[in-house]
Amino acid sequence: MEKQKKGVRLDHISKIYTDPKTGKEFYAVQDTTLDIEPGSFVTLLGPSGCGKTTTLRMIAGFESPDEGDIYLGDENINALTPNKRDTAMVFQSYALLPHINVFDNVAYGLKIRKLPKEEIHERVMNILKLVEMEGMESRMTNQLSGGQQQRVALARALVIEPSVLLFDESLSLLKIAGLTTLVIGIVLIKSGTQKKASSKQEVAHAAV
Ligand SMILES: Nc1ncnc2c1ncn2[C@@H]1O[C@H](COP(=O)(O)OP(=O)(O)OP(=O)(O)O)[C@@H](O)[C@H]1O
Ligand SMILES: [Mg+2]
Repeated sequence: MEKQKKGVRLDHISKIYTDPKTGKEFYAVQDTTLDIEPGSFVTLLGPSGCGKTTTLRMIAGFESPDEGDIYLGDENINALTPNKRDTAMVFQSYALLPHINVFDNVAYGLKIRKLPKEEIHERVMNILKLVEMEGMESRMTNQLSGGQQQRVALARALVIEPSVLLFDESLSLLKIAGLTTLVIGIVLIKSGTQKKASSKQEVAHAAV
C-alpha cells in the first residue's frame, strides 16, 4: 500500500535554551511558522547559530518546542518520540554507532520498529546496494572513509522509508556519485518499487 503524501507545518514554534555561561534563557528559535508542501524540497538558510539545526531537531523529535505546534499531515506530532514520527534525520556528524558494523547501523531503525528479521535483512541489503556500500556490511563504522560514513548515514535514514527526510548540512558533502544515488533512491521509492514505499519524499535540507 502506498503511503499518503504528508506536508509539515510549523505553527508558531519556539525553543528556549539556557546560556550555560550566564544562566540566562534565550530563544534559539522564535515564533517560526512554516508550511512545507507534500513532496517538496525545502532549504533553511541563515547565519550560524540562527536555529536551523534546532528547527530540524524539533521536526525529527529530538527536541520539543517550548511554544507552538508541529504537524505531519493533519497529525500534531509534538508529543511523539523520534521513532514514532515517520521522519529520519541525517546528522551533520553522521552519529553512526561506533564499534558496530555497517549492517547493524543501518538496521537499527528497523529493529527498534520491531520489523521481522527477514524483512530487515532484505531492506538493509537493498539500501546498501543503492548507496554503493554492498559487500561492506560487516565493516565497523570507525573503519570507513568519510564518504563511506556519509553513505551509511544516508542509508540509515532512507531504510525506514520516512515521509520526511531531514539533512543537517550533510547533503552538500555528498560526492556526485552519492547525490546521483540519492536522487535515484528517492525516485525508486517514489515509483513504488519497494514494498510499502512512500509515493513522495519530503526533504528539508538545512543550510550549507
Ligand atoms: N543544547 C543547547 N543548549 C544551549 N544552547 C544551545 C543548545 N543547542 C544549541 N544552542 C544554541 O542555540 C542557537 C541555535 O543553534 P543551532 O544549532 O540551531 O544553530 P544553526 O542555525 O544550526 O547554526 P550552524 O549554521 O552553525 O549549524 C545557538 O546560539 C546555539 O549556541
Ligand atoms: Mg546547524
